[in-house]
Parts: sequence; structure tokens; C-alpha cells
Amino acid sequence: MSSETKQRDAFSSTLAALMVSLGSAVGLGNIWKFPYMTGTGGGGAFLVLYLFFVFMVAVPIMISEFVIGRRSRMNAVGAFRKLDNDPRSPWAGIGFMGALAAYLIMFFYSCVAGWVYYYTFKAATGVFAGITADKAGAMFGSAIGAGTAGGSFFSAAVLSPIFWQVLVLCVIGAIISLGVSSGIERAIRIMMPILFILLIICAIRALTLPGAAEGLRFLFHVDFSQITPSVTLAAMGLAFFKLSLGMGTMITYGSYFTADSDLSTAPLKIAIADICVSMLAGLAIFPTVFSFGVEPGAGPGLLFITIPLVFSQMPLGQVLLFAFFLLTSFAANGAMLSLVEVPTVWMSEEFNMPRKKAAILNCVIIAVVGVLAAGSADSSSFFGGIKVMGRGFFDLFDFISSNICLPLGGLFIALYAGYKMKKEDFRDELTNHGRLHNEGKVVLIRFLLRYVTPLLVLIIFLNSVGVLKF
Ligand code: PHE
Repeated sequence: MSSETKQRDAFSSTLAALMVSLGSAVGLGNIWKFPYMTGTGGGGAFLVLYLFFVFMVAVPIMISEFVIGRRSRMNAVGAFRKLDNDPRSPWAGIGFMGALAAYLIMFFYSCVAGWVYYYTFKAATGVFAGITADKAGAMFGSAIGAGTAGGSFFSAAVLSPIFWQVLVLCVIGAIISLGVSSGIERAIRIMMPILFILLIICAIRALTLPGAAEGLRFLFHVDFSQITPSVTLAAMGLAFFKLSLGMGTMITYGSYFTADSDLSTAPLKIAIADICVSMLAGLAIFPTVFSFGVEPGAGPGLLFITIPLVFSQMPLGQVLLFAFFLLTSFAANGAMLSLVEVPTVWMSEEFNMPRKKAAILNCVIIAVVGVLAAGSADSSSFFGGIKVMGRGFFDLFDFISSNICLPLGGLFIALYAGYKMKKEDFRDELTNHGRLHNEGKVVLIRFLLRYVTPLLVLIIFLNSVGVLKF
């Protein structure tokens, strides 16, 4: 998108801006990643850490991204060049690292979205009726191509997850090329509330299952002995991933915000709404885990095993299950559009490429490298035996993006807003040129951005890589 188009594309109102930013934040992160990471991270302790990072790290960084975006009205690379009045500003590197993070996330995200599409299709055929926990586990294994190591690459078991992933990318490529983003936004605005309601229904059913209380205990009982440096890093990485931070998405969206939106409060609203969606997913999943004897630390399959089980216990369960996965795929699409947008804008501006061509090229790159993620979701998958830095490709893409690129990007964004940007400019943008009378908030936000947020990110980061020990 060229910078002129962007000016025209500004959001129509503060509410629209909030909804679209929420459309990027809410996605597989809430419904798939949050529950399984809480499960493997030990429950309540992980939740406490996650909430701490959302408010102390993610919210100040989102404010910074919005300020940088709206002040410059540019994409993530151009924004720094414009604000610095320097076409060679080194801070533009944040935008380039963001494009790299977007690719890494898309490699595995499109794969998980492929599983969601597959489950939507399967739910339509009614195969989940009366399913048992063992059967649900086995179905997930076959959906992701587990147990295919050592076999032929050209077998249905290996190619099936790849087929669904490619289908996801065709849909995303088509939407971006058709340029129907406003249609999608409207669709998301209708569908998000329906997804919310379905999650509520799901949570209520899960909470009334026998043994549900154990699930609540797991989610809310805080046992600090579970907290290790790697769990802490994972909770911080999730806060970045969840709120689409540290890679320029929110800089781009900030550039579309209307001049009268209050940027000092919008991120808090987005974060709280996003937490509500994640908590609903947690309330739907953990009681079910304990009621059916599923392992809470089951990993990436948790959603795909528990949700068919909850719905199998409900009247009209098969219809609701289909609706649930369909809406989850819409939420995933909304997040993926904002992800593919980052390298697409960068390519089209940097190499003067037509937007459509850039979008298609990006989807092709993601599909080709993404095969490595689709083939390594489980250690018994086709590429599952190949380890880089002790991880299979699927986990590696996730680890490098969430735990390295996003926190580093976020650290530099906080430093930019706290130290490099002129204090008056920062104040001017957050107070809407003095019209908002929120000086107290501005002082607090700037304090966090100078002395708290960057230090926290740095300490957690250095601690997890072993440089700093405590
Ligand atoms: N926030 C999205 C989710 O939770 C993922 C995402 C990350 C989207 C980074 C854009 C940028 O699913």
C-alpha cells in the first residue's frame, strides 16, 4: 500500500480503529496458543506472569507503536525514516526485522490455520459425534501427519496437512489481491461477537461438566515453583505475539487511526478485550481437560482434542462445533491478513512492486518454507527428526519469532519512544495536541517506556539465554 493510499484508508472512527486492531490481536493466539502454553507452563503461575507482561510491557509498547504510526502516517520501515527525517535512519531496521518475524510466524501459523480449516470441514461431516478422548487424540495425530517419519513424502498422510496449509494461503492471497479489506473488516466485525458468544456457550458447558473444578484449580492456582527462566520468556513472548507487537503491525494500524482517537487508552481496551477472549478459551478448555482425563500439558493439540469433546456433550453439538471452527478460521484469517501485510507493504514500497504481485509472492514464499512447519508439528512427523538448535522446524519458527524477534523489536520500539523521540512530540501525539488533558497518563507512560518496559524485556531476555543469572 503506498503512503498516499494509506492517508485515504484511515479508519472511519475510533471504534472502527479499535475493532480492526482487535481483529489483528484476536486469533489463534487466544484460542490455540494461550490455552496450550498455559497448560505446558503450569497453569496459574503462567497466567499471572502473562498478565504482568501484558500490562507492564505489551500495553506501553502498543502505545508506542500507535504513536509512531499515527505521528508518521507511514508503514513500519518508512515511519522511522520520516520521524527521524533521515532516509538512512538505523531505527528502520525495526521494520525489516518485523518483516522477518512476519514470515517466521506465518510459516507455522498458516499450518495451524490449515488444521482449523480441516477441522471445520470434518465437523461439517459430523465425524466428531460421540467422540472419546482417545479417539480425539488419534484424530488430531492424523490431522497433523504424526507417525509419518521414515515413510514416503508423497503419501496422503504427509500431503494432507500441506494441502490444507496451501489452501489457507490461497484464501489469504486471494483476499489481499482482491483488495477487499474493508469487506473483510465488516465481516470480522460481525463474526467476532458470534465467536465470543460461542466461546461463552462452550465455557458454560465445560464448567458444568463433572470434575470441572479441577480445571479451574489448575488455571487459577498459582504455584511459583513452576516459574523458570524459559517459562518467563515464553509468557513474555506470548504477550508480544498475542497483541501483535514488536514487528510493525500496530505501527501500520496506528497510521490509520483517526486524529481524535485517544492513543493513551486504546491499547488498554484492546488488551483487556483480548484477555477476555483468551480467558474464555481457557475456561472452555481446562475443565474439559480434567473432566475427560486429557493431559493439560498435551501441547499444540490441546484445542483440537478438547473442543470436539466439549461439543460432543451438548445438544446441537455438531452444528456448534462446525460454527466454532469456522469462526476460529475467520479469526485466524484476520490475524494472517495483518501478518502478510507487513512484508507486502515493505516489498511493494522497497522494490516498487505492485501490491498484488507482492502479496502473491509472499504467499508463495510462505507456502514453500511453510512445508517444513507442516511436516514437523510432531516429533514423529515426516521432518520431525530434524532438529535445529534442539528444536524441530515448527517449534523453531515459533521460538525465534515469539521469543527473540518480537521482544527485540519491542525493546527497540520502547527505546525509540522513550529516548529517541522528542519528548514534546511524544506528548503532543498522546494528548492530541493538548486537547485531551491526560498529562498525568503521559508522564506515567513515558516513565514506563524509559525505565521499566525496556529493562524488563532486557532482563528476561538475557536471563533466558543464560547471560544473566538469578
Ligand atoms: N495476535 C495474533 C494472534 O494472537 C497473531 C499475530 C502476531 C498477528 C503478530 C499479527 C502480528 O493470533
